[in-house]
Amino acid sequence: MTKESQLEQVIVEIDQLRHSLEEHNRHYYVFDAPQISDAEYDQLLRRLQDIEKAHPNLIIPESPTQRVGAAPLPSFSQVEHQVPMLSLNNAFSQDELLEFEQRLQSRLDSEALISYCAEPKLDGLAVSLLYEEGRFVCGATRGDGRVGEDITLNLRTLAAIPLKLQGEDLPSRLEVRGEVFMPKAGFAALNKKALAEGEKVFVNPRNAAAGSLRQLDSAITATRPLSIYCYALGLLEGVALPETHSETLTLLQSWGFPICDERQVVQGVAGCFEYYQRLAEKRPELPYEIDGVVFKVDRLDLQQALGFVARAPRWAIAQKFPAEEVSTDLLDVEFQVGRTGALTPVARLQPVFVGGVTVSNATLHNMDEVQRKGVRIGDRVVVRRAGDVIPEVARVLLKQRPEQTVEIVLPECCPICNSKVVRVEGEAAARCSGGLFCPAQRKEAIKHFVSRKALDVEGLGSKLIEQLVDRDLIHGVDDLYCLDRNTLAGLERMAEKSADNVLAALQKSQQTTLARFIYALGIREVGEATARSLANHFRALPALMQASEEQLQQVDDVGPVVATFVIAFFAQENNRQIIEKLLAAGVHWPEVEKVAADLPLKGIRFVITGTLHSVARAEARLKLLALGANVVATVSKKTNVLIAGEKAGSKLAKAKKLEIRILDEAQFLALLANPSSFGSEMK
Ligand code: IVH
Repeated sequence: MTKESQLEQVIVEIDQLRHSLEEHNRHYYVFDAPQISDAEYDQLLRRLQDIEKAHPNLIIPESPTQRVGAAPLPSFSQVEHQVPMLSLNNAFSQDELLEFEQRLQSRLDSEALISYCAEPKLDGLAVSLLYEEGRFVCGATRGDGRVGEDITLNLRTLAAIPLKLQGEDLPSRLEVRGEVFMPKAGFAALNKKALAEGEKVFVNPRNAAAGSLRQLDSAITATRPLSIYCYALGLLEGVALPETHSETLTLLQSWGFPICDERQVVQGVAGCFEYYQRLAEKRPELPYEIDGVVFKVDRLDLQQALGFVARAPRWAIAQKFPAEEVSTDLLDVEFQVGRTGALTPVARLQPVFVGGVTVSNATLHNMDEVQRKGVRIGDRVVVRRAGDVIPEVARVLLKQRPEQTVEIVLPECCPICNSKVVRVEGEAAARCSGGLFCPAQRKEAIKHFVSRKALDVEGLGSKLIEQLVDRDLIHGVDDLYCLDRNTLAGLERMAEKSADNVLAALQKSQQTTLARFIYALGIREVGEATARSLANHFRALPALMQASEEQLQQVDDVGPVVATFVIAFFAQENNRQIIEKLLAAGVHWPEVEKVAADLPLKGIRFVITGTLHSVARAEARLKLLALGANVVATVSKKTNVLIAGEKAGSKLAKAKKLEIRILDEAQFLALLANPSSFGSEMK
């Protein structure tokens, strides 16, 4: 045989092996009907690996052998989602589901029965998968919905994710959304192995899936039993959209995406109820975890007409299963001191398995709740846990109360610093009056200051902060930037390398934004959103520090209570000194640009091109102008957004070249439905 014909034979065998491995993958993951055993599959895979090893120039990225992971990454890069990844609103009762349907009917101005696509709410992690010309090119986490992390290399290791789409009529671009999860059996096996090897076990399948996907080393991800079900479309180009969501899922399935078999089209709220009941009963038998069901208006034209509010579609709703409850013994109650000094009674329990994890502590919230529930130490209590929420003591089983129980009393002095505990009239919480004298409050204040949504100091975890405060190495947040390598390296579980990482993270955190800084200060009742509103309104820290109650109340979501807390915070000399020290240490932020609160698209320059189907161009222009936008005729560097209808030509090409944000008609309609979120996204 000549060399050429030998090579030809190799190529033919490689092709056959790849094809049959892909087919078996599809039977396993997409149709849930494996046709060969795992051992037989491994044999085929090994044969392919051997041939590829002998002919490395024949390896292609889509080969089934290329799912073993790549070299570890230093960090994940960020990807902006082409279409934001939304979340879902929840219905907590049947009544709320009824109200949901009534809202839909009144918005659609129709009494007609609505068809829904009902699906399980999978308990995993949302991801987006981008395909160009049929090939998997980018995979990302949801992140904040707008920007996520690029986990392409990790996702490539999931055999359930097609690297290449199947079929003839394929989209030129496609973005699919789905949930990555760890099946119950895989989770149990993984934990069994971890236990045998003396490694840390995962608390539940969701955490195991998250931990596995967040590996910088994709070779580790490759060893984890992860799977995916796809449930939504992000982008579709080059292929006509079906008329319904359920048909879209079937289309995705034909291209090779695993879609959950439990989906079902149901009619009206009555159909939704039935589906919910059926799935709740079936839940324990399912091979994967679900935490509820999702109902989506099936017709895509109705979905489009309904649009979005804030970060969730109006046309879908999740109905979660009630939290799991079990009973156990309440052994003792301790009081935890939080950032604002609030004392939280925490029940120490006889450990029980509930909602997928073993629980040995549960919150009793506050003394009013203790009284209302009538709980005593020694009682038999019902503990409840749902999803990632903190477990709580739901109620007492009075019939099972033992003879000896002990009353839960609020301590007179703080268990940490011994300062007096005070209760303010009308407030549920009792507080330690020690303020920043109390080490517990200082620790919590520092933890808050460095947390992800505040100054985001990576690597400075709770354990480190506790050591630093306990050893008197730092007193408050203003001492953070004086830390040095020796001090850090001398702490438990720290070495020079980790000390350097913390120092680098601290240095990086100095460049921040005014909104983050305000949030980081930990002013009572000032959460992330309020901090952002305050930053946008006052634009500079001194202006905020000097603001009167009246001025503060002009800010969105600031009422008299928040205003009083803000004033009280800045009135404290100690707080002003801390701020001064932080600024002197180098904490800084760029100036906040003026945003007009009333007009959401103010300052954004649009160009419209191509044919729009649902609105005339002139009308689209008027709508944008009314929202404060500039609408001009020609694309230039100054253009921020191009709205490209069908048959868009040279303007689209120019906008692409200039890397200007481009919206298609559907995205434009989504913008009109929710201009404020688009406006703040562009700012
Ligand atoms: S649809 C536009 N369908 O739930 C709607 N989400 O609370 C986008 N989830 O981030 C989501 N199962 O991680 C959808 N069948 C399902 C789902 C599902 C689980 C998760 C998803 C999303 C979260 C929203």
